Order: sequence, then structure tokens, then C-alpha cells
Amino acid sequence: MSKPLVGILAPKNALPEALLQALKGRGIACEWCKVGPWSLDQACPYRVIVDRIGHVYEFYRPFLKAAALQGCYVMNNPFWFLADDKFYNYSLARKLGVAIPRTVLLPCKEYDERVLAPDDLHNLSQLEIDWVEVVGKVGLPAILKPYDGYGWREVHRVDTVEQLKAIYDESMMDVMMLQEFIDFEHYVRCFVVGGKWVLPTSYDPTQRRYVVDHDHLTPALGQRIDEECRRLNQALGYDINTVEFAIRDGVPYAIDFMNPVPDARPEVISWLYFTWLVDRICDHIEEVINQGRVSATRMESWSNPQVVC
Ligand SMILES: Nc1ncnc2c1ncn2[C@@H]1O[C@H](COP(=O)(O)OP(=O)(O)O)[C@@H](O)[C@H]1O
Ligand SMILES: [Mg+2]
Repeated sequence: MSKPLVGILAPKNALPEALLQALKGRGIACEWCKVGPWSLDQACPYRVIVDRIGHVYEFYRPFLKAAALQGCYVMNNPFWFLADDKFYNYSLARKLGVAIPRTVLLPCKEYDERVLAPDDLHNLSQLEIDWVEVVGKVGLPAILKPYDGYGWREVHRVDTVEQLKAIYDESMMDVMMLQEFIDFEHYVRCFVVGGKWVLPTSYDPTQRRYVVDHDHLTPALGQRIDEECRRLNQALGYDINTVEFAIRDGVPYAIDFMNPVPDARPEVISWLYFTWLVDRICDHIEEVINQGRVSATRMESWSNPQVVC
């Protein structure tokens, strides 16, 4: 049998299983990754690794970074998404000219026991948050959510300052953001693969449900969303991601675009979208192999003096 080119690092469920089958169908040798105690001089046997578990199983992360340094292309790049957060992502979107809700990052309510308050916190301009000032920046109602959230964890709509304070007071060590509430007429969730293939789906966030509809966007809005998804994902360096937009008065506001391991169960996203996703990931893997692409690592900053760490 030929040498495996692609290793799949993922729980055994529909998407990785379908990827294995589809890649084999295209004549690309692939298998489930096998990783045990890993020595520094060990050679990674894969040309490409698709990772859908490193975000929750820490042992894989240093392995993936070491593999990338050897020239293995890791999807998604472990140097990117493990360092990302939503506030940075909004800042990036703003710089790229993508509409985003007004957002304020908040100092956390509680901290590690290594922080000796108040002395160690003298750099904070306000030890007690001035809520009137903060709310003045985003308005009410607003959304209070963690800067590194996922799966709706601790996402709250707040309608009054009292409600906001009460929820913030329970937020413990989470770093939270207060964000303008976008009262949307439509919500769109886009699968984006390889920074260039975009599938904008109609999504009902109240039911957390995908709605298969081929005509939910005007051509102009569809084109704008497609273009902004590419711009965001190319800048973020994500191979696989979803981007959510809340549409208000015809303007798409990017809400959540840090989903490097999106839920891809066919019973949730539909078989139609599942098939699209499997096909596009395979296309992307083929391109990466054919073009000899490797993952960006911090080596670039060493070899290029223009890039300063
Ligand atoms: N600024 C906002 N305006 C309106 N709704 C929002 C806003 N931010 C979040 N939401 C709602 O909350 C849901 C979860 O928030 P999101 O930012 O996507 O975090 P998570 O990463 O936990 O999914 C979104 O799908 C959306 O329905
Ligand atoms: Mg989300």
C-alpha cells in the first residue's frame, strides 16, 4: 500500500469517516492518525493532517505544531486558531472593512490567585467598571459574551444596566465583551473552506437550526457575504471555518467567525451541506498537496527580518 499522505486526527464520526472514504475514492492515501509518546527526532509520516480534536485534547497541540515545522500541512493551522480570540478577530474584521457590532472588551471580574489585588492591577485604569460609560458605547439591549466563547457558552442578552452588572458579577475569570445587539432580520451561517469556497446557509439561531433554502439572499448581499468570508478567512489563515452574519437593514454584521471545528453532523447541517463540505475539504487537500503548500509556522519571522515577533 502507498504511503499515507493524509492523517485524520478526529473523533470517529460522520465527517472524518466521510473524508477518509472520499479521499480514498480520489486515490489519495489516508488513514486515522496514530500518535503516541512522540520524540523530537520522530518524523511525521503525513503530508497533511486534518485536525478536529486538538482544541479539546491538549496533548495533540504540541505534536501538531512540531509536525507543521517539519513541513506537514495542518488543517487548521495550530499556530493560528489556538492563539486567536474573538476580540482580536473583531479588530481584524474592522481593519479589513467588514461590518461588526460595536464591542467593548471588559477586565475580568475575578483573577488567578497569583494576582495580588489591588497592587498588581495598578495598570487597570478602572478597578470598578464605569458601566454608564461602557453602555454608552454599545447601547442597550446588548450582548455580554466571553472573548473566547464557543457553543453559546455564557452568551447573554442584557436589557438593563442592572441585569448587565448582575451577569458580569457571576462571570468569574471569564474575559467578557459587551457588544451592540444586532436586531437582525436574517441570520446567515457560512461554511468556508480553503479561504475561497463559501457556502452561505440560512440559519435560525433561536432554534439553532439550518434551513435549506437556495434563495435566501439577494445577489448583491450574497456577493458581499461571499467576498467578506474570503477576506476574513484568508486573513485569519483558517482552512475550515464558519462565519456568522446577522443582517440588519440589509447590512451583514459579522458576529462569530472563530469556529475552526464547526459542528458538521449531517443530521444538523443537512446531507446537502455535509456533502458540499466533504467535497470542498477534499478539493482543498488535493490543492495543498499538488501545490506543495506547507503550514505557516513561526520560522517565517526568523527567516524574514521584516516580520518582528
Ligand atoms: N451582537 C449580537 N447581536 C445579536 N445576536 C447576537 C450577537 N452576538 C451573539 N448573538 C447571538 O448569540 C449566538 C451565539 O453567539 P456567538 O457570538 O455566535 O458565540 P458562540 O461562539 O458561543 O456561538 C449567535 O448565534 C447569535 O444568535
Ligand atoms: Mg456562534
